[in-house]
Amino acid sequence: MNITVIGTGYVGLVSGVCFSEIGNQVICVDNNESKVEMLNEGAVPIYEPGLKELMVSNMQAGKLSFTSNIGEAIQQSDIIFIAVGTPSLPNGEANLSYVEQVAIEIGTHLESYKIIVTKSTVPVGTNDRIRDLIRSISQQPFDVASVPEFLREGSAIKDTLNPDRIVIGTSSDRAIQTLKKLHRPLTNNLVITDIRSAEMIKYASNAFLATKISFINEISNICEKVGADVTRVAEGMGYDKRIGSAFLKAGIGYGGSCFPKDTQALIQIAGMVDYDFRLLKSVVEVNQDQRMQVIHKLQEALGSLAGKTIAVWGLAFKPDTDDVRDAPAIDIIQHLIDAGAYVKAYDPIATDNFRKELDTASISWQDTPIHAAQGADALCVLTEWKEFAQVDLQVLAKMMKEPVMIDGRNVYSAEQIQTSAFQYYSIGRPGLMKLEGKAQAII
Ligand code: UDX
Repeated sequence: MNITVIGTGYVGLVSGVCFSEIGNQVICVDNNESKVEMLNEGAVPIYEPGLKELMVSNMQAGKLSFTSNIGEAIQQSDIIFIAVGTPSLPNGEANLSYVEQVAIEIGTHLESYKIIVTKSTVPVGTNDRIRDLIRSISQQPFDVASVPEFLREGSAIKDTLNPDRIVIGTSSDRAIQTLKKLHRPLTNNLVITDIRSAEMIKYASNAFLATKISFINEISNICEKVGADVTRVAEGMGYDKRIGSAFLKAGIGYGGSCFPKDTQALIQIAGMVDYDFRLLKSVVEVNQDQRMQVIHKLQEALGSLAGKTIAVWGLAFKPDTDDVRDAPAIDIIQHLIDAGAYVKAYDPIATDNFRKELDTASISWQDTPIHAAQGADALCVLTEWKEFAQVDLQVLAKMMKEPVMIDGRNVYSAEQIQTSAFQYYSIGRPGLMKLEGKAQAII
């Protein structure tokens, strides 16, 4: 099939590459000309394992190209995917101006029947608005559909080529047949529904996953007080198929480009129809507070943070990405600086992006985890990059001024901690806490 994907952000670029990989002819459009030029040269503006290789091989096979000429791209394809950003407005609502702009462009360039599919996460009712907008501009036949995207950063290719399900929301039989055919090579789990339910599935899914995370984080806080181990609690819960083991990793809360934005947007959507989504509001609040666990634990270990040197390992909102959007590290480092601390920060790939968010004289940027930890009063682990788990803790402890560690992602095992000299704090594992080199029983 001939496909156009408008927007070459995470969702658009990965979708375009994967549609070409399964045998379609794909044109990706972006209004940023320098980005298009970069993509045409085979360079990828984001870090995503496997993406560049797959992109280049499909470009070489003549199945994938990039352009800033939206009119031509629309005319050459049967299916047009809208994959532009829907960032949060200050009140939490999704900003739909990019989606609407694209709808106007589509209406302006429509010359024959097309299926217009929204992949961007948009509030319920947006696809109806897109249809009305295009209809107000063009007399040509077209259908609209909502096919939400569920890919995760860091495993985007795998998630797109082997999705758990594909949701197709549309009222048109013609669109259903075509979109089924397009997606069938990817999965048999096709959920065919109406547009509004499809739009809702995306928000409900992300809100539910965020709820699981805040739930286990609250359980971890209780575990610390009653002397239980949250990792064992999560394991014991996870074997129950009704609960499932995924997304029960306690830590310092979720970040990224989706959960924070989509939970806020769903609270807004509910509010617009006079529904107070109390549960989700609590999920958001718990997530915000959870970040401060790192600060509380540091204060418990060091007292005042003024004048202290704190090493921070991990700036990205999760491993295998250079994305720092709404990363817990931003809030945590800001708090450290406000408290008068000096920060030595290290991340394998996210430092450049982080510096665009937060960069002051109180932070120094380190090129290895060891350099960051050297001479520090304490070390905070904020992202569970694999390389951190492999560090020799005995050697590390000797390089620090004080061997104090706040492990915000439960990276280290009991064995690693017990053989080290670290005064160790993690999330919801009080049995591993060691004060002055001795295992501490809380109860
Ligand atoms: C998420 C959804 O998973 C995906 O379906 C949707 O399309 C986009 O949003 P992503 O933001 O890329 O994907 O990352 P994900 O792996 O879901 O992690 C989100 C955040 O939750 C990270 O900050 C991660 O550290 C945190 N998390 C995840 C936990 O704290 N505990 C967990 O058990 C799982």
